[in-house]
Amino acid sequence: MKPVTKAVFPVGGMGTRFLPATKSIPKEMLPIVDKPLIQHAVEEAVAAGIDTLIFITSASKHAISDHFDPRPMLRQKFQHQGKASLVEKLDTLPEQVTRIFIPQGEPLGLGHAVLQARPIIEDEFFAVILADDYIRSPVNTTAALIDTVHSGGCSAVSVEEVPEQWLSRYGVVGVPQWHHGTGKVTQIVEKPAATEAPSRFGVIGRYVLDAAVFSLLAETPPDQGGEIQLTDALKKLVTDNGLIARQLEGQRYDCGHKQGYVQATVATALADGTLQRDDLMALLEGNRP
Ligand code: UTP
Repeated sequence: MKPVTKAVFPVGGMGTRFLPATKSIPKEMLPIVDKPLIQHAVEEAVAAGIDTLIFITSASKHAISDHFDPRPMLRQKFQHQGKASLVEKLDTLPEQVTRIFIPQGEPLGLGHAVLQARPIIEDEFFAVILADDYIRSPVNTTAALIDTVHSGGCSAVSVEEVPEQWLSRYGVVGVPQWHHGTGKVTQIVEKPAATEAPSRFGVIGRYVLDAAVFSLLAETPPDQGGEIQLTDALKKLVTDNGLIARQLEGQRYDCGHKQGYVQATVATALADGTLQRDDLMALLEGNRP
């Protein structure tokens, strides 16, 4: 199997749950303390050996391309001023990494967004990373999935145990047998009622997929809401090509939701050595510092 070197970042969604912040700024540019969600996701990909980043964008997403552009004038200015730490912060992407931007055209769902990467991906496995799933973990989730794909020989998705009342927000996998946190998926159900869910394990925003998924996506009809769901194509992948679930190690925050975004911000701030943790704790406990 070829090494996995390409990652797709679907950033074409409307981010309606974050309006008005997302009226002109993409959801993926929202910062967790001082770093945008998309940069966290890109750093994870690059550390996992990805050298080609494919962003599936919408019209209002110029800020993402701007964010990864070099700023030579500003860089030079900071260099002259001897501000090495600021120079470092401007370097948002290693030079050897290629960026490709593909407009989605219309926000017709996550499956439709992933399908737009088809002309760039050859007969190879590729990663899909949803930047609004922010992960704090000692383990690189994308790298771990790539390992799973290499050892299992088929596609893999990251899953997490979710509270029963939230199962209806996820694609939920049926895995009859787990072995050291991984298992063969035998079924996957999109947004099931708790009583119909095959397990409590929901798929989260990290995937490493066989290019065969593109022909499955191309055949997938839109759902009742007019969106092409990635889960519907994964259902066929389960039976035709195989799919492995890997349990997430670490903490994931659903930053598509205000609650998850605020929790991610607080957890990251408390772990940030440049901030006064004791003051933050006092504030959270209601004792204003
Ligand atoms: P969401 O379900 O969170 O949708 O998409 P959204 O539009 O971003 O946000 P809300 O629901 O309106 O608040 C999950 C991921 O899929 C991408 C999003 O950018 C996000 O990373 N996506 C979704 C697309 O790229 N295109 C789409 O048509 C839909």
